[in-house]
Amino acid sequence: MKLNFKNISILSGTSLMMMACSTNPDSPGHEYVPDMYRSQAIEAYVDYGLVKDVEIEDLKNTMSARKPAEGTIPYYADKDMAEVMMPYTYEKSIKGFMAAMDNKIPSQYLESEEIALAHSEEGKKLYGYFCSHCHGDKGKGDGGVVTVGEFNPPAAYSEGYKSRTLGQIFHVITHGQGAMGSHASQLNKDERWKVALYVRSLQHGDIKYNELLQGRRVGEKEILFSEVNLADINKGIYVTMRKINFAVGSFDLTAQSKAELDTLAGYLLTNSDVLEISGHTDNTGDENSNVVLSQNRAKAVVSYLVSKGIENSRVKAEGFGSSVPVALNSSDEGRARNRRIEFVKI
Ligand code: HEC
Repeated sequence: MKLNFKNISILSGTSLMMMACSTNPDSPGHEYVPDMYRSQAIEAYVDYGLVKDVEIEDLKNTMSARKPAEGTIPYYADKDMAEVMMPYTYEKSIKGFMAAMDNKIPSQYLESEEIALAHSEEGKKLYGYFCSHCHGDKGKGDGGVVTVGEFNPPAAYSEGYKSRTLGQIFHVITHGQGAMGSHASQLNKDERWKVALYVRSLQHGDIKYNELLQGRRVGEKEILFSEVNLADINKGIYVTMRKINFAVGSFDLTAQSKAELDTLAGYLLTNSDVLEISGHTDNTGDENSNVVLSQNRAKAVVSYLVSKGIENSRVKAEGFGSSVPVALNSSDEGRARNRRIEFVKI
């Protein structure tokens, strides 16, 4: 901004004329009130919440503006959040957009339906600041800018766009799409997931929590084998056998595991239930090996039950690797909960 302080008159009893002239038309002249003329130095794109690696709660995640060095991530003391901030790898192309269809929202946003709804509420505010002037308050494509001038109205979320997954909405906010620009510099990844959740409620009337889980059971109350009466358990209810443990990378049953399985075999011998027995790992290490390991563990359980006289056709082994977590993988405790053998009556 170019200010011209050629004539400033100040009245203080008598009127006084001050002149600040310069022959250079680009010169701002003299600065009588420098604080007004120049903004305070603002360090764009730093986290104001971080001073020498100490977090200041009130200032955390204050919007910053310089682009980070390629491949770096912002510092977060919270491991889950650091994971959310990892570089986005889906490329800006139709191929990337299609691949993003399967990009899952991090589990922590879905720990419970209340938590998901709270995130969506925050997303609603951000949507109000960044999206509704184009897309309209209800996503009907009737935002203020659309009614002025000859703009293509952004299509309604309720029509052809209704089938877009959360991963795709995140993709569109990150990279932009067609006539819509990227919002990656305005919204960090955390905020983008929140806005995406809110867009989902505009698409469907609510966030459709259960569909969002896509097999994840994070936050679900665990039903322990040692605490239930198996006859009361209905089909489709997952029961966890916590006493079945394996050494790292191994699928050999321990004596303690066998004792627990003897109880299960005893039950199966006196009724006709059919079980799917599944192995699950945490998310450390290579996922293909995790799947194989979890399959081998489930098979070890099934072989043991068969050796106790249960027909093979009544016990089916499945290995899911880390794809069905029941807890966040960011802590030792969460990882331990995810490593498990469970069964379900089918
Ligand atoms: C400046 C206007 C404008 C703003 C602001 C804007 N959009 Fe859009 N958006 C559009 C237009 C135009 C399209 C249609 C793009 C096309 O297909 O060419 C669109 C399309 C979309 C789509 C569908 C893309 C697809 O092909 O599936 C989504 C989802 C979307 N916007 C989300 C958002 C969200 C979330 C925000 C806020 C962070 C936002 N938009 C902000 C104009 C805008």
